[in-house]
Amino acid sequence: MKVNALHFENYRNLKDNTIHPSDKVNVIYGENANGKTNLLEAIWLFCGGHSFRGAKENELIQFDKGFYRLRMDFFSGEREQTAQIIFDKSKKSIRINEVDKNSSSYLTEVFSAVVFSPEHLSLIKRGPNVRRKFLDAAICQHRIRYASMLSKYNQIINQRNALLKDIYKHKELKETLSIWDDSLAVVGAQILSERFCYLKEMIEPAQKYHRGISNDREELEIGYLSTSKANENDSVDEIREKLSKAFLESRHEDYHTGYTSVGPHRDDIDIKINGISARKFGSQGQQRSAVLSMKLSEAQLLYQKNGERPVILLDDVLSELDNSRQDFLLNKVEDYQVFVTCCEESNKEQLQRGKVFYVDNGEIRE
Ligand SMILES: Nc1ncnc2c1ncn2[C@@H]1O[C@H](COP(=O)(O)OP(=O)(O)OP(=O)(O)O)[C@@H](O)[C@H]1O
Ligand SMILES: [Mg+2]
Repeated sequence: MKVNALHFENYRNLKDNTIHPSDKVNVIYGENANGKTNLLEAIWLFCGGHSFRGAKENELIQFDKGFYRLRMDFFSGEREQTAQIIFDKSKKSIRINEVDKNSSSYLTEVFSAVVFSPEHLSLIKRGPNVRRKFLDAAICQHRIRYASMLSKYNQIINQRNALLKDIYKHKELKETLSIWDDSLAVVGAQILSERFCYLKEMIEPAQKYHRGISNDREELEIGYLSTSKANENDSVDEIREKLSKAFLESRHEDYHTGYTSVGPHRDDIDIKINGISARKFGSQGQQRSAVLSMKLSEAQLLYQKNGERPVILLDDVLSELDNSRQDFLLNKVEDYQVFVTCCEESNKEQLQRGKVFYVDNGEIRE
């Protein structure tokens, strides 16, 4: 997957222009608040979802303008393709290869990218729900059925929690809890099995990238912390049995809290660097390197699945990384088209193969 040209009109603070990126690394360089992230965000929109900064469509239109238009020429599926996104305050129009489409979701079939932005550091810094979300979102891209498994599981959890609260007042309802536990164990086992399977696949490339970034000085470990004692060597049936046992054992506590305290919705991922917790003891640079390695591994798995390398968008990753780590990202992530934003002039001089774009008050110059 390669972006050959990107045209933007009335988009954020960017002056109307068409840029022609290198198919290797593109350094987007400029001072703060000049439009570097806006450019990455424009490319990301071609993946078919929302802005990675959580912006609403209206906020993407240049102040005082009535619409924005983005057009991209890209190489994908062994051919040149084009896509266009127009948003005019009331409606979003998508055109792929000059054919109108009635939904942005068609874009996901032709274009893909992986983005790293500083907010992704929450993957290490914040609580378990962020890590579960990361894992679940990655698996959704690989297994079409996974999203519906998750929503079914959450539905049963809500019903079980409602029942737990009722049991507090009506003890006779205790009998009915096992019905929910059985269905929860069935769906929960499918979810856990998919998570184990994805983690197994992603660990090796993530470790390889982390060794590369850290110049072989650090070893990354990613482990699954299961509240039900299930592990990656268990069959789906064994996981289901362990979940049933865990639900039964936690019943007493759950009656009191009115909440299901064990299961995939309470699990976590343990990220370690050189054997110690990255969250508790990792330096800024180490944490950044670990998240980057996991993101690059996500790209690698997408490539293995689709036979097409996604475009890699790296927003503000270079700060807090030492020279050799910066060098890895700028010059050693081979075969991928990379867009990387930075504020330091020295970074553009480190680049060996690719292009530098200078962003100055919304104007982009090569
Ligand atoms: N809809 C819009 N219309 C016009 N300007 C906008 C719009 N949305 C955002 N901007 C402006 O775009 C500017 C640049 O934003 P951007 O986040 O791309 O900067 P940046 O170059 O990545 O800076 P930093 O190095 O601090 O991350 C902001 O100052 C903001 O005021
Ligand atoms: Mg920025």
